[in-house]
Amino acid sequence: MDSHIQSRLNLYVRSLENASSLEDLLKIHIEIFGKKGYFAHLFQTLAQESDMEKKKTMGAFFNTEKQKLEHVFSKRQDEFLQTKQDVVGDVTVPGIGPKLGSMHIVTSAIEEIRRIYSRIGFYQYSYPEVEWEYFSFEALNMPADHPARDDFETFFVDGPVSKKYGRMVLTPHTSNGQVREMLRLGKPPIRMINIARCYRPNWDVTHVPMMHQFEGLCVDKGISIQHLKGTMSYFAREFFGYDVKTRLRPHNFEFTEPSFEVDISCIHCNGTGITKEGKCRICKSGWLELGGSGLVHPNVLKAGGIDSSVYSGWAFGFGIERVAMIKYQIDDIRKLYSGELRYVLES
Ligand code: DAH
Repeated sequence: MDSHIQSRLNLYVRSLENASSLEDLLKIHIEIFGKKGYFAHLFQTLAQESDMEKKKTMGAFFNTEKQKLEHVFSKRQDEFLQTKQDVVGDVTVPGIGPKLGSMHIVTSAIEEIRRIYSRIGFYQYSYPEVEWEYFSFEALNMPADHPARDDFETFFVDGPVSKKYGRMVLTPHTSNGQVREMLRLGKPPIRMINIARCYRPNWDVTHVPMMHQFEGLCVDKGISIQHLKGTMSYFAREFFGYDVKTRLRPHNFEFTEPSFEVDISCIHCNGTGITKEGKCRICKSGWLELGGSGLVHPNVLKAGGIDSSVYSGWAFGFGIERVAMIKYQIDDIRKLYSGELRYVLES
């Protein structure tokens, strides 16, 4: 037998035996058995052989050699496939945990806010989402023709119209709970936190038609701005982190006098207004606005049957989506209601 052929076949046995990966093995297989492979070449030359005797022995030899190599190949192939299976079935390989569901960011913010206020003696109380105009506006010192009512664009509900309470609305803010709570309790002290859905016909980066607010109301003897400021600082530190500063900025609301916007020092640039990249993208000025607050207007106390010469109080109303967006760095409120799993599932 041609020693050249024999040494080439031996070489192939060694290559198959030494193949380091399945891919490698398959490449060698093509070299040996492929259409343009070595055996194709051998059988082609055999076809040209005129000596029939020689042709027969050579043909038999090629076939046995071919079978031998096939055998080596399939043995090695089995080895590689077996190793792959072993990896999958290896009990020591760390498992892949199933994805767990978790609370939506808004729900977990609600829970956190509830806990923070309950630690300082506030209880949660909820009121209907379909509400009389009276509790949403008139009782809050905003009569029907008051221009400030334009800021609270409102969904009106087809239904009964009351002589005393007007039309029905979807609560545009949680402030409706203020007078309702005064009337419910009959007299101070009041330390209420009202967390509810609110509705306004807006849809953009910072507004959705259904959002949540939390409203705080504290009424007692001797309540002053100091208590408001202290409570706002307490909330901000508990919710956003202990180094957060709070400020009250003069503003105007009909239901409080004086009124303030509550700001916190920006948690992204530490209140400096500057980050490594330049001007802070989030706050621009070092401060972020949380929402409105103030000392409860005497007319509101009166609507709630409370004597403003004996009692005073403070109130605030913040958006839950807003505080959650600040805390979790979400730039578009609509993402919270987009069904995106990033906001629903733990990563
Ligand atoms: N209700 C106001 C709003 O939705 C927020 C607000 C401002 C609530 C001042 C208050 C307050 O209790 O005192 O924009």
